[in-house]
Amino acid sequence: MTDTAPLLSLQNITRNFGAIEALRGVSFEMNRGEVVALLGDNGAGKSTLVKIIAGGLEATSGKVMFEGKECNFTSPAEAKAAGIETVYQDLSLCTNVDVVANFFMGREIVKRYFGIPILQEAEMYAATEKAISNAGTKIPSLRVNVEHLSGGQRQAIELNRFVHWGGKLVLLDEPFAALGVEQTRRGLEMIKRIAAQGIGVVIITHIMAQAFQVADRIVVIRQGKVAGDVARDKTSPDEIVRMITGEAFQGKAQEARPNGP
Ligand SMILES: Nc1ncnc2c1ncn2[C@@H]1O[C@H](COP(=O)(O)OP(=O)(O)O)[C@@H](O)[C@H]1O
Ligand SMILES: [Mg+2]
Repeated sequence: MTDTAPLLSLQNITRNFGAIEALRGVSFEMNRGEVVALLGDNGAGKSTLVKIIAGGLEATSGKVMFEGKECNFTSPAEAKAAGIETVYQDLSLCTNVDVVANFFMGREIVKRYFGIPILQEAEMYAATEKAISNAGTKIPSLRVNVEHLSGGQRQAIELNRFVHWGGKLVLLDEPFAALGVEQTRRGLEMIKRIAAQGIGVVIITHIMAQAFQVADRIVVIRQGKVAGDVARDKTSPDEIVRMITGEAFQGKAQEARPNGP
């Protein structure tokens, strides 16, 4: 409702798949410009949580508040309209058209001359070029079909497009899994740059070093609950490992699952 409300607030989110309780009451908040790394073992519930935030899955119970308003999204399109999007490596790009066409996909600039719609190619090209260069991303040519670009370049196009069209919260689920060292380094830099523009970032990664490099806060999910929520500067990889494995249940952590994982 107000600018002082957190960008995102999750309140007691649960999600069941049949008898499986994938999420058992997850709560956390984040602000604009904040990078939150979600860590946790396989099956902890990270992807389920991110899908609920992005409208790809509905919560069984609990509230998702975005900019102070309750909004339990029922589709990714609804979340996207509110400014929340999951950025994949390339799944949402059309590989058989160029960078400009991808940037303006579904938002093409068309002007009518004597009633005939004409695509404003030059205007779209200039806007794409500006957005990409402002972001510090280098793409050899905006006229090349996306199929010829690397995974890192595709990710950069997706992220820049998201920022350009007013995105507010971006979700990244293991974004660098298929990228090399140099592309990953650039990806991490890009995340910092977009956060510096006031965008919230949630990144799932199982690589501890990436979490420490990019995140302001680390939230650990264990067996569907928050097992730790700490500022990056106030913790250490050892402590995070203990939270992930459940050796150091402390603070908000809850009792171990009665019937094991
Ligand atoms: N569509 C689904 N149907 C049934 N079970 C699911 C489904 N998605 C996730 N799960 C289960 O929910 C739990 C959490 O999964 P997930 O969120 O993918 O964990 P993570 O991303 O942390 O590895 C796991 O036990 C997983 O098997
Ligand atoms: Mg996952």
